[in-house]
Amino acid sequence: MSKHSNDRIPFVDLAKQFSLIENDVMPAIRSVAEEAAFIRGPALTDFEERFADLHNIKHAIGVASGTDALSISVRTLEIGPGDEVVTVPNTWISTAFAISHAGATPVFVEINPDTHQMDPAALEKALTPRTKAVIPVHLFGHPAPMSDIGPICQRRGIKIVEDVAQAPLAREQGRLAGTLGDMACFSFYPSKNLGAYGDGGLILTDNDDLAATALRFSNYGQNGTIMSGVHDTVGYNSRLDSLQAAILLRKLPYLREWTEARRRAAARYDELLEPLPVKCPAAAPGAEPVYHLYVVQIDNRDACHAYLRENGVMAQLHYPIPLHLQKCYRNLGYKEGDLPISEGVNRRILSLPIYPEITDEQIKRVVDVLARFIESGP
Ligand SMILES: Cc1ncc(COP(=O)(O)O)c(C=O)c1O
Repeated sequence: MSKHSNDRIPFVDLAKQFSLIENDVMPAIRSVAEEAAFIRGPALTDFEERFADLHNIKHAIGVASGTDALSISVRTLEIGPGDEVVTVPNTWISTAFAISHAGATPVFVEINPDTHQMDPAALEKALTPRTKAVIPVHLFGHPAPMSDIGPICQRRGIKIVEDVAQAPLAREQGRLAGTLGDMACFSFYPSKNLGAYGDGGLILTDNDDLAATALRFSNYGQNGTIMSGVHDTVGYNSRLDSLQAAILLRKLPYLREWTEARRRAAARYDELLEPLPVKCPAAAPGAEPVYHLYVVQIDNRDACHAYLRENGVMAQLHYPIPLHLQKCYRNLGYKEGDLPISEGVNRRILSLPIYPEITDEQIKRVVDVLARFIESGP
């Protein structure tokens, strides 16, 4: 039994966050229940408006999850069988599932090993006449290189669906993630930078037609938000619950300060890890990451991961298997060695605990345990 087992450092601490904002959140939950406005109630409309305004984008459509936001966006862009959509192998599986569920083929391209983001040169090489869209993922809260990706796609009429699940408020060259493509998809999974108390997601778009189509898909194929019983499209039941929207409305005003707290925690890790043989997450020039995750690269990763957890530091792996090597994608024909940069990085990544409420003392303990592992080295 480890000596720190009684005071584990969790990967995130949502109970602590709740204790700090309970007085904001509980009345919001109560008012939705009192108004019995559970589906597409005023809290959802308010939240959609606020979220759209925050990004200076015309339309926000709340949906049931980030996964659905991606699936609905791909369908909205009329992508289907025979089409290819390019994305990265180092993301949560939902990014690729959205492509597959539409009947299209995911094409995985290499990443920059320092920033973990899509490599624009690799993207350009992967384009074919069948490429209909690209899904850049602002992974770990670092913005994807949209200034390069944007022109590559625009020149060829290829659509961009941003996956902003991990990166609300991140900026690239001063521009907000979620405003840099045709459609942008957010997740409010509880541990995200802006998390609901259950599943939730949202689509942003400036395009009126895309917004109307996405809304129709999300509401059983009916036009607008009403329950007309007239179904123009084979749609989904995918609305953001009013309860979740009410909670998110109360949490949204905290997002900036929580983001700054994450940035301070990341800077503290950078400083304390400096003397150790650990590669800290790099920010590209002009990138303003929001540190959804703090992912280092380290030798003997698996042993280090196990040692940290045995010693009360609940580090995690994002993600254990790159998507092109997942069993569910065997049919695509990728094999080990096809994406050597992503695979090499994948063997070395380790996500350290980070969340707005993490204390300096906790960060120091994480680094101490890591330093002990390195000292005891092979
Ligand atoms: C990069 C990325 N894309 C998509 C998703 C899917 O979001 P959700 O869990 O809300 O379905 C997530 C989060 O889980 C994610 O991290």
